Amino acid sequence: MTRPLEDLASPHLSGLIPYTPGKPIEEVEREFGIAHSVKLASNENPLGPSPRALEAAAVALSGVHRYPDGGGYILRQALSRHWDVPPDCFVLGNGSNELLTLVGRIFLGPGDEVLYARQAFVVYDMVAQMTGATKVAVPLKNFTHDLDGMRAALTPKTKLVFLANPNNPTGTCVDPRALETFLAAAPPDAVVVLDEAYYEYMPPDIRPQALRFVRQERRLLVLRTFSKIYGLAGLRIGYGIGPAPLVALLNRVRDPFNVNSIAQAAAAAALGDTEHVQASRAANDAGRKFLTEQFRAMGLTGVPSAANFLLLDVGRPGGEVTEALLRRGVIVRPVRGYGFPTHLRITIGTAAENEKCVAALKAALKA
Ligand SMILES: Cc1ncc(COP(=O)(O)O)c(C=O)c1O
Repeated sequence: MTRPLEDLASPHLSGLIPYTPGKPIEEVEREFGIAHSVKLASNENPLGPSPRALEAAAVALSGVHRYPDGGGYILRQALSRHWDVPPDCFVLGNGSNELLTLVGRIFLGPGDEVLYARQAFVVYDMVAQMTGATKVAVPLKNFTHDLDGMRAALTPKTKLVFLANPNNPTGTCVDPRALETFLAAAPPDAVVVLDEAYYEYMPPDIRPQALRFVRQERRLLVLRTFSKIYGLAGLRIGYGIGPAPLVALLNRVRDPFNVNSIAQAAAAAALGDTEHVQASRAANDAGRKFLTEQFRAMGLTGVPSAANFLLLDVGRPGGEVTEALLRRGVIVRPVRGYGFPTHLRITIGTAAENEKCVAALKAALKA
C-alpha cells in the first residue's frame, strides 16, 4: 500500500505551519468588493523604490535571456565600498529570508540548540522546526529582547542565535552597547545572526556597531535587506555580512543563481541613492509621530518603535479589529500568533494612508 506523502516527508515538517503573508491589496478588494484600499501589513516602503533603482531595473530587463552573475560581483563591490568591509564578506540572498533558511541548513540538526526570543520574527521558529533543532525561546521583557535572559540560556549545545534588532513585530531595539557586550561575550562555537532588516530606519545614535565584530572575524552574520527602506520587496534581495569563512559556507549551500539580475542591478542603484533613503526615513519619522499622537489621543497604547511599523494595543481581539479595518479598506496585521491577542502591527504609510488608517480605526472601534 502507498504511504501518505506526509509520512515520506522529513518528520520535522509535520509541525511546520506555513508563513502567513500580509494580504495583497487585490485579494482584499476582490473579497470585500471595495477599491482604494491601503496595505499597511508587510512593512514595505510606502514611497516605493528609488527612481534610480527603477531605471537600472529597466536596463537590466533587456538582458534577461542571460543568467545573472551568480557571484553578484558588482553589487558586492558596491556593498563593500558602502560598508567598508571586504567584498568576500558579503553574500546575497533571495531576500534576507533565504539567508535565514540557509544558515539553519548549515548549522542546525537534531540535538543542536537554537536560541531566539519567543516573540521575534516567526521565520526563526520555522527554521528551527524545519531542521529538527531544539528551540530555546526566551520571552521578551517589556516588548524588548531580554539579552541577560538570552545570555543565561546559552549552553554548549547552542549552535545559532537569532536576534532581530529592531524586532518584528514589536519594533523595539536593544541598547546598542548592551548588544555589543552580548556579541563580545557570545560563546566561540555559537554563530549569532543579527537580523537588521530595519536598520536604515533606526535613528543613527542607537544603531549598534556590529560590523566591527565582522571585521574582527567573530562568528557573526549581519543580515540586511533591500525589501524595507529601499522599497524593493517584490524583487527579493537581501544580503548577509559575515567573516569570509562563514560567507563561504553560505555560498556552498545557496542555489547557483539565487538572486536575479534585475534585483542585483536595482539594488546596486538603490544603495547609491542616499536621497531616497533619507526621504524615506524622514517620511517614516513624520508618520510615526503622527500615528503615535493620534493613537494616544484615542486612548490606545503603542510600543515605542525604531522601525517602520507600530505595535498597537487596541484592547479587543486583534483578529476582529483587523477584519473591521479590512472592510474599510485598511490592511494591517493581527499578531495573536506572537502572543499579542489584542495588538495590531501597523506599517507606517504615507500621510494619506496614515490618515485613512486612523479614521478607519476610529470607526472600527466605535462599531
Ligand atoms: C525581522 C525581519 N527579518 C527578515 C525579514 C525578511 O525580509 P526579506 O526576505 O524580504 O529580506 C523580515 C520581513 O518582514 C523581517 O521583518
